[in-house]
Amino acid sequence: MTQTTSSARRAVRGNHDYGPLQHLDPVKDTDPAVYQAIMAETERQQQGLELIPSENYVSEAVLSVLSTVLTNKYSEGYPAKRYYGGNEHIDTLESLARERAKKLFGADHANVQPYSGSPANQAAYFALAEPGDTVMGMALPAGGHLTHGWKVSFSAHYYNSVQYGVDPATGLIDYDEVARLAKEHKPKLIWAGASAYSRKIDFAKFAQIAHDVGARFAADIAHISGLVATGLHPDPVPVADAVTMTTHKMLRGPRGAMILSKEEFAKKVDKAIFPGLQGGPHNQVTAGIGVCLHEASRPEYKAYCKQVILNAQTIAEEMVKRGFVVATGGTDNHMLLVDVTPKGSTGKLAQEALDLVNIATNANMIPGDKRTAFDPSGIRFGTPAVTTRGLKEDEMRLVAHWISDVIEAGDDEAVIQRVRGEVMALCEQFPLWY
Ligand SMILES: Cc1ncc(COP(=O)(O)O)c(C=O)c1O
Repeated sequence: MTQTTSSARRAVRGNHDYGPLQHLDPVKDTDPAVYQAIMAETERQQQGLELIPSENYVSEAVLSVLSTVLTNKYSEGYPAKRYYGGNEHIDTLESLARERAKKLFGADHANVQPYSGSPANQAAYFALAEPGDTVMGMALPAGGHLTHGWKVSFSAHYYNSVQYGVDPATGLIDYDEVARLAKEHKPKLIWAGASAYSRKIDFAKFAQIAHDVGARFAADIAHISGLVATGLHPDPVPVADAVTMTTHKMLRGPRGAMILSKEEFAKKVDKAIFPGLQGGPHNQVTAGIGVCLHEASRPEYKAYCKQVILNAQTIAEEMVKRGFVVATGGTDNHMLLVDVTPKGSTGKLAQEALDLVNIATNANMIPGDKRTAFDPSGIRFGTPAVTTRGLKEDEMRLVAHWISDVIEAGDDEAVIQRVRGEVMALCEQFPLWY
């Protein structure tokens, strides 16, 4: 990210002087407990490697707009159609964000108000289907999101959910099987998109399957939004009726979400968000979304996204060399799923061991997993955050070997101590700007 600014600031002020956090000074006196927890989290982020694929570091510009007076304002409605007075500047900000979203993704319509990814998906159901309709999405253990029809989610409670998986042998989406299920169950809505799938998704094929059975098609690109925006992944926008995404993952924006849609569904999407599901939008987040979309439209952002992929591929290659099994044999995107059981470990044990060395990951099911979701066979790694931090292939090779060393080490305290020291030394070399 802003490495130059960060290095310069540190050269002047020294490490652990969190200059940009001076705006927290008021809370230091008012609420020391909250202040201390925020500072401790800042330090944790500084001194560790973030390999959770859904996380990232926002820019100084994005973070700064989040703590502004915009948080004071109520703005139910949409630009020029508000239920409260005094919204002329909020209208400017929301219109900017909407126009930038439409331009970046080539969409007819953009709604930037969803509070987060799950409500965005809920609104897409409201816009494209009726309660009780049959809907199809990818099962959670196969890599789908809860909101794609998994049994504990509203999406399975209020809709008749049919789930597709991946081929257990290859780990890949079996499009013939999706088509077969669609013909059998005749859903009204089909979802594509995933939280844990490391290969390209053929959105055009999904759209064809949906249209062949008269279903509407929604794509959730929460994880791969940046790759879609920069042309590094097939684009669902021309073929989907609605496209949802969170803004806080690869897009490097604030915690929020957007829904893009064809003009035909624009009114339905807007009504589904407000008044259907939400009240007033979080204006400070809207402004942050505007800023992150501006940042994502720059050439540097495409270079960042390319590096994200290279970094993930490097970790995958190194871990295969160390004898781990990488689901699908590698990755086309920002994440990979690694089976750690050949090393006598489990997903949960590996996650806990990596926590000890300041490497944050999450245990995850792998295709065809025989273990439970609570302690699955795999670990999910992602590179959006470490790439923002400035790490490239050389550092990824180190990281992959540290991960392998730790998982192989079991209880060997000496290995844990060594790797933890090496991780912290690398983090010092690539400071965050916070
Ligand atoms: C594919 C996908 N969709 C939606 C969401 C939900 O986002 P949120 O946690 O903001 O509700 C996630 C979260 O990780 C996700 O991976």
